[in-house]
Amino acid sequence: MNHFSTDIKADFPIFNSSDLIYLDNASTTQKPSKVLEEIDSFYKETNANVHRAIYSIGNEATRRFESAREKVAKFINAPSSKEIVFTSGATESINLLARSLVSNLEPGDEILLSEMEHHSNIVPWQMMAEKFKVKIKYLPINKIGELDLNNSEQYFTSRTKIVSITHISNVLGTINPIEDLAKMAHKVGALFISDGAQGVPHMQVNVAKLGCDFYAFSGHKMLGPTGIGVLWGKTKLLEELDPFMGGGEMIETVSFEESTWNEIPYKFEAGTPNIAQAVGLGAAVDYLDSIGMKNIQEHEKKLTDYAFDKIKDIEGIRIHGSSKKKSGVISFNIKDIHPQDLAQFLDQDNIAIRVGHHCAQPLLSLLNETSTARISFYIYNSEEDIDKFCDSMIKIKAYF
Ligand code: ALA
Repeated sequence: MNHFSTDIKADFPIFNSSDLIYLDNASTTQKPSKVLEEIDSFYKETNANVHRAIYSIGNEATRRFESAREKVAKFINAPSSKEIVFTSGATESINLLARSLVSNLEPGDEILLSEMEHHSNIVPWQMMAEKFKVKIKYLPINKIGELDLNNSEQYFTSRTKIVSITHISNVLGTINPIEDLAKMAHKVGALFISDGAQGVPHMQVNVAKLGCDFYAFSGHKMLGPTGIGVLWGKTKLLEELDPFMGGGEMIETVSFEESTWNEIPYKFEAGTPNIAQAVGLGAAVDYLDSIGMKNIQEHEKKLTDYAFDKIKDIEGIRIHGSSKKKSGVISFNIKDIHPQDLAQFLDQDNIAIRVGHHCAQPLLSLLNETSTARISFYIYNSEEDIDKFCDSMIKIKAYF
């Protein structure tokens, strides 16, 4: 069965009321009715706090919240739902790790990132590295936008304690060899973390197979609501890790002198969690499962190849990154048209793309750009969307 018939858009109310062509999915994704209905029904029928109330709707709220955790665990093949820590998003997940891990390092120890990281996988490490006199190194990228692992021994050293690399670049779309990188990190005794914000929404992720120690992602980039994300970690490592936020829910006992921590994952979930958002994420997982991540990845690959072929001949275009191991993200610049102008003109045709530095300024400086235009796809996009985008581009090009 072809799950990608043109009527898939019918599941998404935002497309029912307009002819919007939405090509900014690396930024955030649209929400299907099933997710919206689940959030609505949570608030209308079972709104209560979790893990506290002993009345019926409180039990039901807890059941729905924990059921979402189980769905997420199954979705990424986590060995146990206890390994799923709900956070507000990938950014908070990585901040949690930076706060909790770097304080255990010695001055002169090294953290290894890459030149294609999003700010959320650079800045939290910089904030802590400065405080604890730890060095940050960056794995370089090559001309086609892949990691250059030729001189890897210079980067993976006996001082390397943490390696944190994006699964998929939000600017270039490059899919990184996470399994190999995890092995390289472990060989020098370092922990391996992957930022999966652009990974989990677009491919079947199996954390057990990838070999990561921790993996972070966001709900809103996979059809779920904003304000919910995940930190997955191996049980033993999560148990050893100190929490970085204190408050309710994350404690076992509190006296005036000291506190002890709850078991995982609650130890990391201080305060009332984003309950309805977690429930909404569970519905997003169900929806993605009903389509199948393999089908989604194939669909996006076809669209990306189709778009690449169509736009590569536009006069003056410079496409950034030409790796064959690429997901549905294409960044480009066009001679003599500022990306900002391009986005504004496309908006007149109701086409949404992202322009700017994409929260990856170090990478953009390597591309010799301060801003690029970026199109990124998801399950509801079609070849027709790309045709309309290309027609609009040609019109704008002629205008300039
Ligand atoms: N990380 C998001 C993006 O790439 C916001 O657009």
